[in-house]
Amino acid sequence: MERNKLLYEGKAKKMFQTDSPNRLIQHFKDDLTALNGAKKGSFNGKGAINCAISEILFKYLEGHYVPTHYIERANNTDMVVRKLEMFPIEVVLRNIAAGSMVKRFKIKEGEVLQTAVYELYLKDDKLNDPMINESHALAFNLATAEQMRTIAQIAKKVNALLRSFFERRNLLLVDLKLEFGHIDGEVYLGDEISPDTMRIWDKISNIKLDKDRFRLDLGEIDKGYKEILKRISNV
Ligand code: ADP
Ligand code: TMP
Repeated sequence: MERNKLLYEGKAKKMFQTDSPNRLIQHFKDDLTALNGAKKGSFNGKGAINCAISEILFKYLEGHYVPTHYIERANNTDMVVRKLEMFPIEVVLRNIAAGSMVKRFKIKEGEVLQTAVYELYLKDDKLNDPMINESHALAFNLATAEQMRTIAQIAKKVNALLRSFFERRNLLLVDLKLEFGHIDGEVYLGDEISPDTMRIWDKISNIKLDKDRFRLDLGEIDKGYKEILKRISNV
């Protein structure tokens, strides 16, 4: 499948039209951003690594009856996906306290949460993605009540599946961000699942292997991403 017109360029990906009206090509860029785009970086091969990690995880989830937008890999950095009508919502699941949760609640990083925490954010860069709840989502007409129930159900299932998937590879899934969309009302998991959108620590050393290496200027960002890909490949 060939790339046609560029539909959208975001911070980490480009979305292209294809010959099929129902399919898009999702291109993974080497760029890294943080602080809502204010901090910029990149490393060679990041796009290919994130494309490969996302593919492995989408395939794993599909194998466990999670509906995702993934269709096939087009090349190293490009993935053919179903074209979705995206909900302007970021869904975050947390298993271990880190990032904004530590700041918001003044708790210790690394505290294991008794149950997974489910959070919603409005996807709006101009407003800095404010936290919302289901009532806002319904009041703002972002999705139907049934779609919100499905999103919560799929998100919790994805977190549980991936948490144990990573655990078996001696990795801790600290938290992750998911985006959903729909086709004729039917909910699908979209976007990417990569070290840009989840926090992953080594289970023994608690060393950070994800985008926090960039956010916190820890160095060796590429090493972290490569280590995650290595541990989840060929198993
Ligand atoms: P951002 O917009 O936050 O800078 P990206 O650079 O990752 O993010 O851009 C990818 C865009 O494509 C996002 O807005 C995301 O919601 C959207 N998207 C992801 N998957 C699909 C899909 N299957 N169909 C349509 N849009 C999608
Ligand atoms: P947070 O601790 O900054 O709220 O982030 C929680 C998780 O969501 C973390 O894995 C990073 C991911 N995330 C994104 O993918 N995009 C975003 O815009 C934000 C704020 C977080």
